[in-house]
Amino acid sequence: MANDTKQLDALLKEERTFEPNPEFTQRANFNDPAIYENAARDPEAYWDEQAQNITWFKPYDKVLEWDAPHAKWFLGGKLNAAYNCVDRHRQGPRKNKAALIWEGEKGGSKVFTYDMLGREVDRAAHMLTNLGVKKGDRVAVYLPMVPELPITLLACAKIGAIHTVVFAGFSAKSLRDRIEDANAKLLVTADASWRRGKQVPLKAFADEAVENTSVEKVLVVKAVGEEASISLTEGRDLLWDEEIERASREPFPAAEMDAEDILYLLYTSGTTGKPKGIVHTTGGYLVGVNTSMRSVFDIKDEDVYFCTADIGWVTGHSYIVYGPLSAGATVVMYEGAPDYPDRDRFWDIIEKYGVTIFYTAPTSIRTFMKWGTSYVEKHDLSTLRLLGTVGEPINPEAWMWFHKYVGKEKTPIVDTWWQTETGCAMIAPLPGLTKTKPGSATKPLPGIIADVVDDDGQPVEKGGGNLVIKYPWPSMLRTVWGDDERFRNTYFGKFPGWYLPGDAAHKDEDGYIWILGRIDDVINVSGHRIGTMEVESALVSHPAVAEAAVIGRSDDVKGQAITAFVILKEGYEPSNAMTAELKETVAEQIGKLARPEEIYYTAELPKTRSAKIMRRLLRDIAEGRVLGDTTTLTDPSVIEELKKQYQHKEE
Ligand code: PRX
Repeated sequence: MANDTKQLDALLKEERTFEPNPEFTQRANFNDPAIYENAARDPEAYWDEQAQNITWFKPYDKVLEWDAPHAKWFLGGKLNAAYNCVDRHRQGPRKNKAALIWEGEKGGSKVFTYDMLGREVDRAAHMLTNLGVKKGDRVAVYLPMVPELPITLLACAKIGAIHTVVFAGFSAKSLRDRIEDANAKLLVTADASWRRGKQVPLKAFADEAVENTSVEKVLVVKAVGEEASISLTEGRDLLWDEEIERASREPFPAAEMDAEDILYLLYTSGTTGKPKGIVHTTGGYLVGVNTSMRSVFDIKDEDVYFCTADIGWVTGHSYIVYGPLSAGATVVMYEGAPDYPDRDRFWDIIEKYGVTIFYTAPTSIRTFMKWGTSYVEKHDLSTLRLLGTVGEPINPEAWMWFHKYVGKEKTPIVDTWWQTETGCAMIAPLPGLTKTKPGSATKPLPGIIADVVDDDGQPVEKGGGNLVIKYPWPSMLRTVWGDDERFRNTYFGKFPGWYLPGDAAHKDEDGYIWILGRIDDVINVSGHRIGTMEVESALVSHPAVAEAAVIGRSDDVKGQAITAFVILKEGYEPSNAMTAELKETVAEQIGKLARPEEIYYTAELPKTRSAKIMRRLLRDIAEGRVLGDTTTLTDPSVIEELKKQYQHKEE
């Protein structure tokens, strides 16, 4: 779980509450308190009403068909996601409104109006079509945060091709695994990317990833340009700039997609070694993200909305691309790091563009707290009217800091709980209606039937249990790409008919939900999911490693940090060099985000008599706690040895 006992106690003793500001409520998109009850009484009617905010080429005949665990939404409806995100806004007063404001890490910026974005997307759709991309094909995307990233996604959507974005911080191997699983035909990548003024050689990683795969063509965006040196493989690699020149300037006709046609795949970690390709479809996904933009983010035409996520993760898909653009919003997209060139970069961006809605992660807030208030106080943030967080439980102190120093004690905060699988925010306040409590994501949104239940499925009145979602919702995952059985077992195996997110939660006397962290072997590092098995597999791929066990220990800034316990093979000795090499192996195999913070060496791992690794004990050791019950251990002396190492490190 994300919180250690101390943090958990503090979370559950939290008693501060914040009522919605009446002025905010008066102007809020969602300000009728009856909405919760009405939607709960008839969720289908609620979603039917919300779906009217989407432009359908052909109206749907039926709202929902629920054959658990498979849902179909808006049956018979035809639409196009790119048309909804761009073209429909070009035909009205939003035509010349800023759609995308891109801020480069090095300082340059670009503004695309809806009309300009439309032309870029259409031309990119022609280009992809010229390269052989057709409806239903998979296009892998491995790009830094440059405008070509959302343009590529929207161009795929316009054609009806399925995009699968791989976060640019992932390794060549991770990219390869995803390309192979999705059977992608084309890869769109970049020469390199900027990170804190340094280049990351994306094209070199891409070269390694695509060899002997289904990828026929690699399209290369010059994100860095002259300064990056890349090699191009004749007949396979093409430059975006050259191909776009060749592409037609005519409007590209939007593919008429069925509501249930796949919009995208996005891979996420689970308990086993292999990441899952989460399948999102067109109609339901769009209705889900569009609704939450209006309800949770209270989006209005005059807003300037800034989400600090990377489009490589679901937050960027839903809340940089499809949500805000389908709502006709002005979106700020930032290319780089929060501390480049200095630690006030986000505040500088907010001031520069007059940002009104700011959505970020608790880990970032904890980092800002560590940096002190001088950076945030240097800037005029008075345009802000709504703040949001996502990715992990927010500790009340971080919530209060955000409230005080960024929101100046005036703006509501929406703590949004959701997942790659859910597509859109599920448990979050409605800023004009819901009383907030620092650290609680509050209540399920209208149309979402969620609860906390015990292991027998009985609702918990007050206390801890499993978070479950008892009724389908439009933007839910439809399956796991190529593995429907895994979909059924993972999410619907424990409680048939109910979706199990894999999070532990606590319900308080007001029915408020406090998310406590994962109940499975998934670690949440800075709001990113990493499977312990993935890191363990990477470690044992090193010739010196016989066995490895990985856990997430609590960390003040990252939420959780990765700790590895390693048994070396005969003939290898622990050393600083070995530690560095093993950490590097993980970074190379998965990506830097999975690099263990520390590695302990041991001759044995603590196992139960049935040979299960006792991860709880390992967590206790890594967090320096007095050890709990060890009576089921096969060999208690293992623990003594490990404890000594931990104490040695602390001294
Ligand atoms: O454990 C929950 C945590 O992040 C997990 C989902 O991770 P991912 O699919 O990568 O999506 C992250 C962005 C939506 C959840 O199972 N999580 C996400 N948001 C919150 C959260 N935990 C507590 N509070 C949140 N607001």
